[in-house]
Amino acid sequence: MKVLGIETSCDETAAAVVEDGRTVVSSVVSSQVDLHARFGGVVPELASRAHVEVLNPVVAEALVEAGVEVPDAVAATVGPGLIGALLVGVSAAKALALVWDVPFVGVNHLEGHLYASLLEDPDLELPLVVLLVSGGHTMLIEMVDHGRYRLLGQTIDDAAGEAFDKVARYLGLGYPGGPAIDKLALEGDPKAIAFPRSMLNEGYDFSFSGLKTSVVRYVKAHPAVDTADVAASFQAAVVDVLVAKARRAAFDLGAPGICLAGGVAANSLLRDALVLACKEDGRRSFVPSRAMCTDNAAMIAAAGWWRLQSDGPSPLDTPANPNLKLRVV
Ligand code: KG4
Ligand code: ZN
Repeated sequence: MKVLGIETSCDETAAAVVEDGRTVVSSVVSSQVDLHARFGGVVPELASRAHVEVLNPVVAEALVEAGVEVPDAVAATVGPGLIGALLVGVSAAKALALVWDVPFVGVNHLEGHLYASLLEDPDLELPLVVLLVSGGHTMLIEMVDHGRYRLLGQTIDDAAGEAFDKVARYLGLGYPGGPAIDKLALEGDPKAIAFPRSMLNEGYDFSFSGLKTSVVRYVKAHPAVDTADVAASFQAAVVDVLVAKARRAAFDLGAPGICLAGGVAANSLLRDALVLACKEDGRRSFVPSRAMCTDNAAMIAAAGWWRLQSDGPSPLDTPANPNLKLRVV
């Protein structure tokens, strides 16, 4: 069964064809990064308009590349995300499903991220501990079975990606901040500044807003500081906490492996640190390719296929929901 996936929740317009939830046949991503860069962040109205302009060609490219005229189902992200942006993809997906007379399935964007690892490594054994770190979310999840998730912990304030973006903005590194800090940190000393590791030994929840404030306070007090040292030390503080909690969760649950998901999972230090920690603990780590970590439609098509197997098609009046929560047990 070939599922066409459509993703327009934020600033990437993406379409992909995935077979049986496991094999990526085509995947096209059109990024709006250049459009939003000069505003220092995503401008929702501009994002919606850009989705309207490029969605049809992106879908056409994904179908042509896959050699598919009519897919067997259409999956689209229905939330969470920017409402105007979501509506573009959801409306297009419903219209296509209607004219092609194939099922429509609404997909939770976060569930899509959870499926990214399984798409690249279908033999991953469940249960898994997944560290889902993106621009809007920071969650530690136990993937008990397909479609069954247990929320172990989450951020009580800023998401990890949000902290990267805000700190980068303060340091004048531009948007998006994550990749900019990742790159600059390579030239800095991660031990130069001892930024706080918030809530390191307290449960599975995270907090990053204090860290952001510490960075601002430090730079104000030390204006001559090397920006690369600030970037490297900030990044080390974020990664230390993320890895320590994921590691502890896997230990507590006896989970055989840990995987990364979401845009921040593209971070070089986080990827290396998680692989190293798992090696030390004799656990499997799975780190998806960078393209699979950031927003794409292959993960939506895969999660859509699994949802179709478990719940069947979604009604055509399924709304886009900017605040959609991950269904947890
Ligand atoms: O998953 P994603 O593409 O979109 C959301 O669903 O939010 O994640 C975007 C986030 C942004 O905050 C971006 O700065 C961050 O992922 N990011 C990174 C890196 N690449 C993207 N953060 C740290 N290091 C990176 N290399
Ligand atoms: Zn995302």
